[in-house]
Amino acid sequence: MIIGIVAIAKNFAIGKDGTLPWHYPADLKFFKNTTTGHAIVMGFNTWKSIGKPLPNRLNIVLSRSRQIEPQPNALLVRSTNEVTALSPFLNCDLFIIGGAQTYKNFADVTEKWIVTEVPLTVDDADTFMPRDFLSGFEVVETKELTKELVVKVFHRI
Ligand SMILES: NC(=O)c1ccc[n+]([C@@H]2O[C@H](COP(=O)([O-])OP(=O)(O)OC[C@H]3O[C@@H](n4cnc5c(N)ncnc54)[C@H](OP(=O)(O)O)[C@@H]3O)[C@@H](O)[C@H]2O)c1
Repeated sequence: MIIGIVAIAKNFAIGKDGTLPWHYPADLKFFKNTTTGHAIVMGFNTWKSIGKPLPNRLNIVLSRSRQIEPQPNALLVRSTNEVTALSPFLNCDLFIIGGAQTYKNFADVTEKWIVTEVPLTVDDADTFMPRDFLSGFEVVETKELTKELVVKVFHRI
């Protein structure tokens, strides 16, 4: 299944200066537990921001022209089509982990969204989700990670 996973502020902000505008260890732990053992797909900007392949996952990195150092669990691809072609042959879920350009690229094929609602408004953010990215989806599950952090799972209607 192709699943989008994102942490999003009240004003739909997701990034600032190439990184996350917050630090929530509980969300990072949730992200790790959710994606471990699966494939994760990220744009080159997010790859740069993470700085290394995340362990125990196949890290698929999208870039039209840049290179990454060869590493056993990192795969560089040049187009979204390469990822969707690969998907049926992977015996695991494919998590689209961002950033904004990458979520947009896979919006039509994303079957499920896992959204952490960050209780902040990040006024000086520079990367945002589209306001309507969950249109056509409905909430199927809500879980509290901490008192302030809620995760909602959405399926296509
Ligand atoms: N809050 C969250 O959950 C979350 C999650 C992830 C990231 N983020 C944040 O989001 C920001 C980064 O997002 P972003 O939108 O700037 O960048 P991004 O999606 O991470 O990466 C964009 C890059 O990916 C490559 N790319 C995009 N579409 C492609 C395509 N169709 N084919 C081939 N390559 C493609 C291009 O690289 P080339 O220029 O090399 O071709 C493009 O410059 C950061 O601030 C990050 O921290 C937030």
